Formats: sequence, structure tokens, C-alpha cells
Amino acid sequence: MGKVQGNMKSCLQPVPKVLVSCRGIDGKNNALAVAYCCNCSFDPPMVMVGIVPSRHSYKMVKETGVFVVNLVTEEQKEMFDYLGSHSGKDEDKFVKLNIKVEEGIKVNAPLLADCPVNIECKVVDSIVTGSHEMFVGKIEYVHADKSLVDEEGNIKYSDVALL
Ligand SMILES: Cc1cc2nc3c(=O)[nH]c(=O)nc-3n(C[C@H](O)[C@H](O)[C@H](O)COP(=O)(O)O)c2cc1C
Repeated sequence: MGKVQGNMKSCLQPVPKVLVSCRGIDGKNNALAVAYCCNCSFDPPMVMVGIVPSRHSYKMVKETGVFVVNLVTEEQKEMFDYLGSHSGKDEDKFVKLNIKVEEGIKVNAPLLADCPVNIECKVVDSIVTGSHEMFVGKIEYVHADKSLVDEEGNIKYSDVALL
């Protein structure tokens, strides 16, 4: 098998694409598309999201110490692309897209109500790795569509077409 040098910046694919929602200290909601997202502890359950400091959402997460990871279906691609290409600095993306919001149970941040799974997180640590700051979020609560969970609360990922 002949090998050539691969692109270092995109060598780990596919990665889950999620929407991270947050709220500013002024009460304004925002969300951005995030590809830098992964599990980082089983016990206690934790996930990590990477946010570039120039993002409008970065300041919000830094100041409030909370965020929500929302899993996105293929049908929500249009919303995902918009949130990933427009900044809350310039407009209220929630108003623009008429995004339905629910309140977090454990954190003061918006859940994207139409996403099948919403993971409420509290920041317990962060590491500046390079271009991104990786926020380590302790999972405080997981909301999942009834139709997607088994008797033990496990999400049946084979039943949902995630982006
Ligand atoms: C597929 C995709 C993946 C992205 N992944 C990330 C990411 O992991 N971290 C990040 O900071 N920005 C990422 N972005 C860019 C932000 O979502 C984008 O800059 C967004 O407009 C920032 O919004 P904000 O300024 O309102 O926070 C991604 C965009 C797309 C389309």
C-alpha cells in the first residue's frame, strides 16, 4: 500500500457536528456550529467543546461557565449551516431563524428544542490547545426525545439520522 502525506488539519474525520448554545450575561441567547466536540470522561460524564476566541459564543461560555451541546439531525442542516456561518455579533440568530428554545434544568442556557438530544454542561476546566480553547464540560443533565431512548435511558443512535 503506497502512502503519501495527509492533511494534518483534517485527518480525524468524521467527527460529530453539534450546535453549542449559550447565553450571555445580558440574557441574550446564541449558538454556533462546533466540530471540535468529544467525550472526555466516562465517570464523571464529561464532554469537551473547542471554541475559537474570536467567536461571539466564546465570551459567553467564558463568562457564564455553562453551555449546551445539541445534537443535530440531517433535516436541520440549514439551521446548522446558518449558525455556523453567521455571528451573534452581527445579529440575533435565534430571532432570525425563529429558533424554538427551552430552558435548561441545571444551567442558565437555552436548549434548542427541536434538536433530539440536548446535553447541559458546566465548565470545569479549559485548555488552550492552539487555535481553539477546549472547554471541559461536566454533564449535568441530558434531554433526549422519548422515541430515542431505551429502558435504561441509553440513546438509540441507530434510530436517528444525525448530521
Ligand atoms: C461544520 C462547521 C464546524 C465548525 N466547528 C467549529 C468549532 O469546532 N469551533 C469553533 O469555534 N467554530 C466552529 N465553526 C465556526 C463557527 O460555528 C462560526 O464561526 C459561527 O459563525 C460562530 O458564531 P458566533 O460568532 O455567533 O459564536 C464551525 C463551522 C462549521 C460550518
